Amino acid sequence: MTGKVEYYFKHNDGTHIQGIGLGTFASTEGDCERAVLHAIDVGYRHIDTAYFYGNEAEVGAAVRKKIAEGVIKREDIFITTKLWCNFHEPERVEYACRKTLKNIGLDYVDLYLIHWPFSYKYRGDNELIPKDANGEVELVDIDYLDTWGAMEKLVDLGLTKSIGVSNFNEEQLTRLLANCKIKPIHNQIEVHPALDQKKLIALCKKNGILVTAFSPLGRHNAELRTPTFMYDGKVQAIADKYNKSIAQVVIRYVIELGTIPLPKSSNPKRIEENFNVFDFKLDAEDHAILDSYHNGERVAHARQAIKSKYYPFNVYSACF
Ligand code: A2P
Repeated sequence: MTGKVEYYFKHNDGTHIQGIGLGTFASTEGDCERAVLHAIDVGYRHIDTAYFYGNEAEVGAAVRKKIAEGVIKREDIFITTKLWCNFHEPERVEYACRKTLKNIGLDYVDLYLIHWPFSYKYRGDNELIPKDANGEVELVDIDYLDTWGAMEKLVDLGLTKSIGVSNFNEEQLTRLLANCKIKPIHNQIEVHPALDQKKLIALCKKNGILVTAFSPLGRHNAELRTPTFMYDGKVQAIADKYNKSIAQVVIRYVIELGTIPLPKSSNPKRIEENFNVFDFKLDAEDHAILDSYHNGERVAHARQAIKSKYYPFNVYSACF
């Protein structure tokens, strides 16, 4: 069953990536390792983690196990992880990357992203959201261009094959492109029917940057039945037409927006379901229906950083 999806993209630096990846946000305590083991068996060859998620070690353990079993070779799997906001000072970047590699237990990662364009004060490796006496997050003004310069050195050192960014807006990406030696290969952003990101995706495409889409299902809530596109009869009708689930239709839509979705799941059945989206295509009518849910709402606002001059979202709206 392994490697059955040969749906790959080539990056602007010549490396390749499978056009879907396993998201791992909020997956810990053994769930993440089990999810990655299962995902590899099902055919996923692209895993997304982050220092902030606290599960790099679980991702690494699963990948190393599958390499030891002979199921995959290191070069068959693409591992993305991310530099957290407290390590943005240029002199801390290599340290953070080496720490991440130690967590993962591999010599290199495939892609290292700046997780957010804003920075937090460094108060130790484990204080990920440092707060002052008033409970406010301690922001510091480190220019992401300076952080990027240190990221470029990681490629020369062989600690990561490629580098990229996450949650950068149009203006930040344009400024970075005008001031870098190595171009980012990805911008990882939130994408789903309520936040279709068409403008930012077009800018990335024009500049040879791939978009990976986190929370493609809008981090839905079964109790509240939100966001609406996950619980709407109109999307159910599309799903019925193709004999698919609503989640599969939504993931397919996110692919057809021109992105690489990163659906998170730690449930074996859903891990398989989310991967099984390459045997159908949505038509124009389906797109029109799914487009109609766009209202700009986000699940990841990072409101705690709104006072940073590098906060990426000009407008943030209420949660679903
Ligand atoms: P679980 O890990 O129990 O499968 P997003 O990627 O939009 O952030 O969504 C992740 C959330 O959606 C998780 O709570 C995950 O739960 C759930 N999920 C993942 N895949 C599916 C699916 N195919 N159908 C329903 N819920 C899903």
